[in-house]
Amino acid sequence: MLFRKDIYLDNGATTKVDSKVVKRMQEYFSEKYGNASSLHSYGRDAKENLENARKIIAKSIGAKTKEIIFTSGGTESNNLAIKGVALFYGKGHIIVSKVEHKCILNSCKWLEGQGFEITYLDVDNEGFIDLEHLKKSIKKDTILVSIIHGNNEIGTINNLEEIGKICRERKVYFHTDACQSYTKTEINVEKQNLDLVTLNSHKIHGPKGVGALFVKEGIKLTPLNHGGGQEGGVRGGTENVAGIIGFAEAVKIASDKNHIKKMERLRNKLIEEILKIPESKLNGSRKNRLCNNLNFSFKKVEGEAIGGYLDQKGITSSTGSACSEASLQPSYVLKSIGLSDELANGSLRLTLSRFTTEEEIDYVAKVLPKIISKLRKFSPL
Ligand SMILES: Cc1ncc(COP(=O)(O)O)c(C=O)c1O
Repeated sequence: MLFRKDIYLDNGATTKVDSKVVKRMQEYFSEKYGNASSLHSYGRDAKENLENARKIIAKSIGAKTKEIIFTSGGTESNNLAIKGVALFYGKGHIIVSKVEHKCILNSCKWLEGQGFEITYLDVDNEGFIDLEHLKKSIKKDTILVSIIHGNNEIGTINNLEEIGKICRERKVYFHTDACQSYTKTEINVEKQNLDLVTLNSHKIHGPKGVGALFVKEGIKLTPLNHGGGQEGGVRGGTENVAGIIGFAEAVKIASDKNHIKKMERLRNKLIEEILKIPESKLNGSRKNRLCNNLNFSFKKVEGEAIGGYLDQKGITSSTGSACSEASLQPSYVLKSIGLSDELANGSLRLTLSRFTTEEEIDYVAKVLPKIISKLRKFSPL
């Protein structure tokens, strides 16, 4: 019989660093701590390991090694992709969806202030963009389309191949934010016609503060960080060698397809259990969904209250994306898929990891219905 547990189901916000990753990184802090730009043996060793990490990450998405630029994470990669392309062109039109991560939307807002035109595409009630609408929105001066791969709140996975084909045919660059989907579903830059891809490390049991941007050979970006010529001159600053080595180690471990199968099985089991709760609704696509994501709305309850009660039972959850949790507004993603304020405010996100166990899932399935029914008894709604 389980009582107080420590069940972490907020892996969409961040994950624990795998102990094998920590072990791999350790000597690069205290022994092999050279600067990858230095010419001495410490520097050469750092450079060799940095390039090996670049090779591992490039291979994982079918890219060339030189097409990977290391950054400080998803936010920086997204800023560099959007602003880097825009500023290189100097003017033009950009298309994004309404359910992008805030760092994309706020980069676009900033660009609007600089005179760029942005189209924000609607999504359907599962969170997909409409391909015909995308086609119609591309204009003569469109320079970039950026559409999220796996949505961080509702888990919906857009079809990159189809979007990429549309963009390639019209000679418009295609960027995707793959922070949530990386290693959880296929990303292949050739097959999916991708020009720029954002990746990060801390969603896949790697360290925080590390990410990468795939930039297809030949694409020019205006750097946002001017520095000493690191990362092909596109991103100045001493590379975070230990972090990057940890990132590559995390990628190697996460690439085992068995992890996906396990998360998918546990996710499906929990979806079935939670849907038995009266007046519950799964948000996002059932079919094309991140293997670790569950997002539900419950009538007549506040998501914050559910989260609080779950916390008391030792279960860590989220009511939206971590970055917007501080705001009291209902999630813009849930509003974009057509949810009422009541349903958007009554939402709960549970995100699994490869460390999540069946016992933990069973425990959540047992306590959650009781919490919902208790809250409904007190609900003024
Ligand atoms: C889809 C998506 N994009 C971008 C980010 C930002 O990444 P980072 O935390 O590495 O800056 C996140 C993380 O919350 C995310 O989920």
